[in-house]
Amino acid sequence: MDLILIAAVAENNVIGQNGELPWHFAEDMKRFKELTMRHPVIMGRTTYESIPEKYRPLVGRRNIVLSRRDEYRPNGVEVVGALEDALTLVERNPRLEFDEQSIYVIGGAQVYACAMPIATKLEITHIHKSYIGDVYFPVIDKSIWKEVQRVDREEGFEKYSFVTYERKEV
Ligand SMILES: NC(=O)c1ccc[n+]([C@@H]2O[C@H](COP(=O)([O-])OP(=O)(O)OC[C@H]3O[C@@H](n4cnc5c(N)ncnc54)[C@H](OP(=O)(O)O)[C@@H]3O)[C@@H](O)[C@H]2O)c1
Repeated sequence: MDLILIAAVAENNVIGQNGELPWHFAEDMKRFKELTMRHPVIMGRTTYESIPEKYRPLVGRRNIVLSRRDEYRPNGVEVVGALEDALTLVERNPRLEFDEQSIYVIGGAQVYACAMPIATKLEITHIHKSYIGDVYFPVIDKSIWKEVQRVDREEGFEKYSFVTYERKEV
């Protein structure tokens, strides 16, 4: 099973500001949708609530939301109290309509930090610019992660790269 962190990250590691994404890149959203479609997606409550109501739960994906609030039960999502519980849920209650060999962690900062040590792969959109923000992606330690693919893109005046990292063999 692959546990994959997928994120768009600015040059200064910013990933969000005031509960939202600081940017909008259509190509990046399209890639996010393509990669995550038919897979379980794990996210923090704040990230879930940052998705506009008409787009949540994310269609075609098994939405799993992390929250420590017992009473938090939005429709159409599975809520668990810890990352390990999300993985156990997928393992013990497989849903055949999804491809559960790859599970995507889709943010935000708290959940990325928690999942990074056990992730097997990173799908990072590196935005080649710094942004003002209040939440950050963890540092990608190059002694642990090797870059295996890079595609450079431009959208408007912005440049970014889709980069795949895999954990190095130990
Ligand atoms: N650039 C990107 O690719 C990207 C992707 C996703 C999100 N974002 C941005 O990131 C920001 C949100 O990140 P965030 O760090 O503030 O919030 P978050 O990680 O999305 O959610 C935090 C909440 O999730 C729950 N939670 C987190 N870790 C948990 C754990 N280990 N066990 C149980 N529950 C856990 C808690 O919910 P309760 O309070 O309910 O207990 C916590 O308050 C937003 O600005 C968003 O736009 C950016």
